[in-house]
Amino acid sequence: MKRVVILISGRGSNMEAIVKACQAEGWPAEVAAVISNRPEAGGLAFAASHGIATAVVDHKAFASREDFDAELARVIDGFSPDLVVLAGFMRILTPGFTARYARRMLNIHPSLLPAFTGLHTHERALAMGCKLAGATVHFVTAELDHGAIVMQAAVPVLPGDDATTLAARVLTAEHRIYPQSVRWFVEGALVWDGEVVRHRDDAAQHLVLS
Ligand code: GRF
Repeated sequence: MKRVVILISGRGSNMEAIVKACQAEGWPAEVAAVISNRPEAGGLAFAASHGIATAVVDHKAFASREDFDAELARVIDGFSPDLVVLAGFMRILTPGFTARYARRMLNIHPSLLPAFTGLHTHERALAMGCKLAGATVHFVTAELDHGAIVMQAAVPVLPGDDATTLAARVLTAEHRIYPQSVRWFVEGALVWDGEVVRHRDDAAQHLVLS
């Protein structure tokens, strides 16, 4: 059984989708812990109610990013994870931290990377008049919202959309591609081809919702 540790900062709907899929589909994995940098994160209650260990490492209690990341790594490593999953974890990580979990830490970003790294992706996509939006699951590197892409999902931008309606449509897609990506990792189905990640049996690494 592979051990997965999930990091959240808020409501944790992606974490919830991963926990549910793991249990329902019988992955060779268990979610060993859910860790938040915010004590009030809504997702902690869901995790606890599903018998999953929870922990809080409050970034406000640390003087520097290095100090916070060192304590976060100590807590994560206490759960001996094979994979660390960032699911709405809203902290910039130090290079030492990302190097420690190289090729075993995933993130989901609500855009079709490499477009719109950083914050306010939906507002920026709407301001550009984008006709497609989406989400990307990728391995984490030192560079924000970069790293090998595992899956991408595209959704249409519809007339009358605002950032709220577009975010909701993208989130539906996130809840499909993040569990799928984590499942592939724990099954050992992801293979590195240089700096690119492929599915060993060429399963589709994209999803297009209309
Ligand atoms: C998601 O849209 C994710 O892509 C972004 O933050 C949101 C987190 O939502 N980074 P949730 O906490 O998983 O519900």
